[in-house]
Amino acid sequence: MELTEYIGSLKTPCYYYDIALLRKTLETVTGELKKYKDYQVHYAIKANANPVLLKLIASYGLGADCVSGNEIQRAIECGFPPEKIVYAGVGKSDWEIETALNNNIFCFNCESVPEIEIINEIAARMNKKARIALRINPNIDAHTHQYITTGTEESKFGIYIYDIEKVIALLKTCNSLELIGLHFHVGSQITEMEVFQKLSETANDIQQQLAKEEIELGHINFGGGLGIDYQSPYNEPIADFANYFATFADYFEQQAGQKVHFELGRAIIAHCGDLISKVLYVKESRTKKFAVLDAGMNDLLRPALYQAFHKIENISSDKPEEIYDVVGPICESSDFFGKNIRMNAVSRGDIVVVHTAGAYGETMSSRYNLRELPLSYFSE
Ligand code: LLP
Repeated sequence: MELTEYIGSLKTPCYYYDIALLRKTLETVTGELKKYKDYQVHYAIKANANPVLLKLIASYGLGADCVSGNEIQRAIECGFPPEKIVYAGVGKSDWEIETALNNNIFCFNCESVPEIEIINEIAARMNKKARIALRINPNIDAHTHQYITTGTEESKFGIYIYDIEKVIALLKTCNSLELIGLHFHVGSQITEMEVFQKLSETANDIQQQLAKEEIELGHINFGGGLGIDYQSPYNEPIADFANYFATFADYFEQQAGQKVHFELGRAIIAHCGDLISKVLYVKESRTKKFAVLDAGMNDLLRPALYQAFHKIENISSDKPEEIYDVVGPICESSDFFGKNIRMNAVSRGDIVVVHTAGAYGETMSSRYNLRELPLSYFSE
């Protein structure tokens, strides 16, 4: 069956995942990792937590980066070994900390003094020792959308760089904690490698500062953030992992026996997923043509929330192109996928594909307007 024909038989709106592309992406990532000593990637579950995809990702030996107790449980259910699970987040609830301790995960990435105190308290009560890394907010601008910038002083994330000394003093009194590393994550959809260069240099400085106090760090975790090309999904379906890892290899001073960790989400899964929808109506005003889809901002929030660009294509038509605002059925003016989009002339029933929606698409979908959650289909 032709792909167009097959897609036409799916119940829309839905996500469609290209498993062959995901395999190829994972082969590329693991191939690049092998070039370096002790480099490891934890897949960021928040980007896409679909169990079918998670099982495949886990089978390539990646660890998991989680930000909630439920993500930890999902990761374990899907085959990620607890000793490869890291757990970040500025607001870890007591039950989530207990879940992490009960499962003996690799490491908590701690984001504040009060959080460190509570993890110490809960671990003591449970007779456990919690392995922790300090998530440092290095005050580096990631030059990305303000809502996905996390490493500047205005942001809620991490321990501020000027508080490190205070935290190290506190840790000396925390008998149920073991400091094993440092963690950073400065933002998402980062396309300038200089940001990662700067991050490596900052990590070098902090590491030197801590070495003076004889603090050894078993691993440094640089978070995620590698950006991808949303403009031309067919040209560059696999992110530039080679350049990304090489930047850290060039600038970060990895110590003997030290491991280097990453938490990639978007770069692994974004290109593998498309949002598939049907055109319900074509509507015209004096100035505009609207293609009204059966998918809405509840299915894919990124354009409404971050003014994000996704390539949109009408795969049912070869009529001459026209210009449309591509909108959804939700009662909000922000419910659009793109404005002034050029695509083959649209009729009711045509299939419209919103590309590169595999990351932060399905996971951010909601039941707003009491709509159903989007279904998911897989190429194999
Ligand atoms: N590690 C931590 C601690 C994170 O907070 C994130 C993403 C990642 C890793 C993975 O970053 P990635 O490699 O995917 O860039 N919903 C937004 C993106 C939010 C990112 C949140 N944190 C979007 O749709 O663009």
